[in-house]
Amino acid sequence: MAKFVVEFGKSGKEAAPDGRLQGPAFERNHDAIWSTMATFLSAQTGDVLELGSGTGQHATTFAGRSPQLTWWPSDIYPSHLASIEAWRRHAGLANLRTPQHIDLTDPAWSWTADKQPGGVLAAMLCINVLHISPWRVAQNLIAGAGRYLAADGRLFAYGPFKRSGQHTAPSNAEFDASLRAENPEWGVRDLDDLNALAQAAGLTPAEIVPMPANNLVLAFAGAGRRN
Ligand SMILES: C[S@@+](CC[C@H](N)C(=O)[O-])C[C@H]1O[C@@H](n2cnc3c(N)ncnc32)[C@H](O)[C@@H]1O
Repeated sequence: MAKFVVEFGKSGKEAAPDGRLQGPAFERNHDAIWSTMATFLSAQTGDVLELGSGTGQHATTFAGRSPQLTWWPSDIYPSHLASIEAWRRHAGLANLRTPQHIDLTDPAWSWTADKQPGGVLAAMLCINVLHISPWRVAQNLIAGAGRYLAADGRLFAYGPFKRSGQHTAPSNAEFDASLRAENPEWGVRDLDDLNALAQAAGLTPAEIVPMPANNLVLAFAGAGRRN
């Protein structure tokens, strides 16, 4: 059964002397996630905002693979923000910006670009957050995508999801139960519920890309893209 991490580095074992933390799932999932975004992102310029960046490994790796995009990582925990900043300094990438505090429980969340209110985004990315946070985080993420995504932009969300109310594997059902036992507000989200939020926000229904270990990437497109 999958395990979950709420705050990285709690055991004190994962941190490098400069504060870089290592996420246990990063090595397993980052190439698969990248493969779902690479074609789209390679044709884009502009800004990409990551929500719930955790250690910062994904933003750092993906920024290195898309130098024409400017990446803006974010999180809520000071230890995570410190780790993201440490990875940023370690990588020395010109297109990876200092992390910012964005709490998706805030319905009025906003992002900042070089001390100015952030504008239209080419893409947003949210990896393994929606099941380890209250439902309002999903609501506010998708509403925010409606506010910020370019007409042809994409919101990529990775994690375990239910489809038509059903888990996609017994291990995901066990995982869901363990999440809900830890916090009744957490749990594996249903694609239909997320698509309803997307519709309300003016986004397309999700394109679904199966991932290893019974995860999915959901790609919601901005309001300007209609099939
Ligand atoms: C399981 S970790 C995933 C981190 C990273 N995306 C990854 O895949 O390695 C969940 C992340 O969501 C962040 N998070 C939790 N609640 C949040 C909220 N309300 N707003 C934004 N981020 C949140 C946590 O701080 C943590 O970094």
